[in-house]
Amino acid sequence: MPGLSYPIATQRLLLRPLRAGDGAAVHAYHRLEAVARYQSWTERSADDVADRLAEWADLDGTDPEAKALVLGVTLKGSDRIIGDMVLLFTDRAARQAEVGFTFNPDFHGQGLGSEAVAALMRFGFEIYGLHRICGRCDARNEPSWKLMARLGMRREAHFREHAIFKGRWDEEFHYAVLEDEWRLEQGRAD
Ligand SMILES: CC(C)(COP(=O)(O)OP(=O)(O)OC[C@H]1O[C@@H](n2cnc3c(N)ncnc32)[C@H](O)[C@@H]1OP(=O)(O)O)[C@@H](O)C(=O)NCCC(=O)NCCS
Repeated sequence: MPGLSYPIATQRLLLRPLRAGDGAAVHAYHRLEAVARYQSWTERSADDVADRLAEWADLDGTDPEAKALVLGVTLKGSDRIIGDMVLLFTDRAARQAEVGFTFNPDFHGQGLGSEAVAALMRFGFEIYGLHRICGRCDARNEPSWKLMARLGMRREAHFREHAIFKGRWDEEFHYAVLEDEWRLEQGRAD
């Protein structure tokens, strides 16, 4: 992929592909119920994390046909992973992607998730030429939808009791931003 270069630096963070050696750092938060609560998965064992890392190592952006890009996040000055993010390429022809993000609770509440996801979105629009980036979350997952709103994503839908999620009715918010809207916001911020 032209323009692909790691790590991606933000003010406080570095974004890079994940590797097998990140197992302990990723397991430290993927094992927590509070982190898995609103995800499609349940608390992960160390072996589950090792399996995911093996899969994600191939999703480093080098294959233009890959179904997703997965990046880990570290603080500058440390190589320990504090969060991970995905851009899932849902429709290549229409340049659509869905963003996902998971951070270690030890690093919540500092704007680090927003900073990292903002950089991933920039990467998606500028390097991948995306037209639209969306995100979904459980309506009870306030930190998640607040993060998306903070980054200029619009709430496009609230699906009421449309599925069963972990044994109860699912309430889901859909957020999205178009490339044009995103560029307009960037221009205002500059
Ligand atoms: C979703 C998730 C990444 C959000 O984490 P977060 O730390 O709340 O999000 P941000 O990085 O955007 O930080 C925002 C918070 O930091 C505060 N903050 C402090 N310094 C800040 C700064 N410099 N810039 C921005 N926000 C700052 C904000 O006020 C906000 O706190 P508030 O919500 O109490 O007002 C996190 O809750 C998570 O990983 N959850 C588990 C996994 C999950 O559910 N993922 C989503 C699945 S859909």
